[in-house]
Amino acid sequence: MVSQHQDQATGVSYAERRSRLRQVVFEGRKPPDAVLITSTANLYYLTGFTGSFGALLLTPDTERFITGGIYATQVQNEVADVPLVLNPTLKEFHETAIDTAKELGVRLLGVESSTPVAGLQGLRKVGRRAGVRVKPIGAPVEKLRRVKDACEIARLRDAAALADATFGHIQRLFQPEVTEWDIAMEIDFYLRRQGAYPAFETIAVSGERTALPHGKPTERRLQRGDFVTVDFGAKLNGYCSDLTRTVVIGRASAEQRRLYHAVLEALQRSIDAIKPGKRGKRIDALARRVLEEHGLAEYFGHGLGHSLGIVVHDGTGLSFRDKQPLEAGMVLTVEPGVYVPGFGGVRIEQDVLVTESGCELLTHAPVELLEFDW
Ligand code: GLY
Ligand code: MN
Ligand code: MN
Repeated sequence: MVSQHQDQATGVSYAERRSRLRQVVFEGRKPPDAVLITSTANLYYLTGFTGSFGALLLTPDTERFITGGIYATQVQNEVADVPLVLNPTLKEFHETAIDTAKELGVRLLGVESSTPVAGLQGLRKVGRRAGVRVKPIGAPVEKLRRVKDACEIARLRDAAALADATFGHIQRLFQPEVTEWDIAMEIDFYLRRQGAYPAFETIAVSGERTALPHGKPTERRLQRGDFVTVDFGAKLNGYCSDLTRTVVIGRASAEQRRLYHAVLEALQRSIDAIKPGKRGKRIDALARRVLEEHGLAEYFGHGLGHSLGIVVHDGTGLSFRDKQPLEAGMVLTVEPGVYVPGFGGVRIEQDVLVTESGCELLTHAPVELLEFDW
């Protein structure tokens, strides 16, 4: 059993993560007196809190966790090591946050740039009256979350293994007359039965609908000759996996084979190119070049991949926007695809851990073209 406060297997503690955040926030030029963290993913990362609203107030030498009565008992189990301030019923949350900051002598309060506008305005209004200035300070926790620690990598491995097992489990449904909805439901049921949640809305599309990269499952029945694409992930112990496979019902046509092998080549050459120091956008460009060689680049309308972590799109990854060099410890998806309107599409998605010398696959479901001719 993994303790909420200290992962026994790896020795990583939430307090240690908070102390790394303090180093980043309070040691720069003109630091704030305190930082207020409100993003639920960041609260989970820094404290283990699984509720849907709360705030962590950190000064260089003290800390408070603020939440409402609905979490009064839960927070004492999950965040036992941070002094608790319970927001009284019928009081606005940002008033309690500002009061708590003021009691700790805070004059300049840093908030995450992702703080919703309404929240920021509320904090500023109350802060003005209390003599506490409120200033967005960027996304320091997301920066820490880019590179995963040992505890996170262990959980991401488990989430990836569950995605593989789920793909194995649903293969018996790849046959004529089964509906897209049947497949999506079976994926979700299996994930839930194994103690996980779907990491995002499960995709199951078939036939021409495989040309919809994020199509929603319908009651369409599979037919011989269809492509079927499933894209799903497990959120297990707080961490996400993300797996896509495209298969064929019956035997693949020559054109289906051509598309599939082009995407597979883009996948494999991208994975071979991933290593620390490389910029994500260079790997994305490589995948596009491979598809260009097959005359298919125009049908690849999304980025090559993203980070995985507490959320399924966990920040920088492998797209034209990702200019920062990759680092060992990042966990990424690699998911080239081609989508030909009126014909169909193929996407193959793997999860990888960036290592010192390259990358390691976390997902192991087969990537060869699977033809289901029962
Ligand atoms: N379906 C979400 C993703 O693969 O990124
Ligand atoms: Mn996916
Ligand atoms: Mn993905």
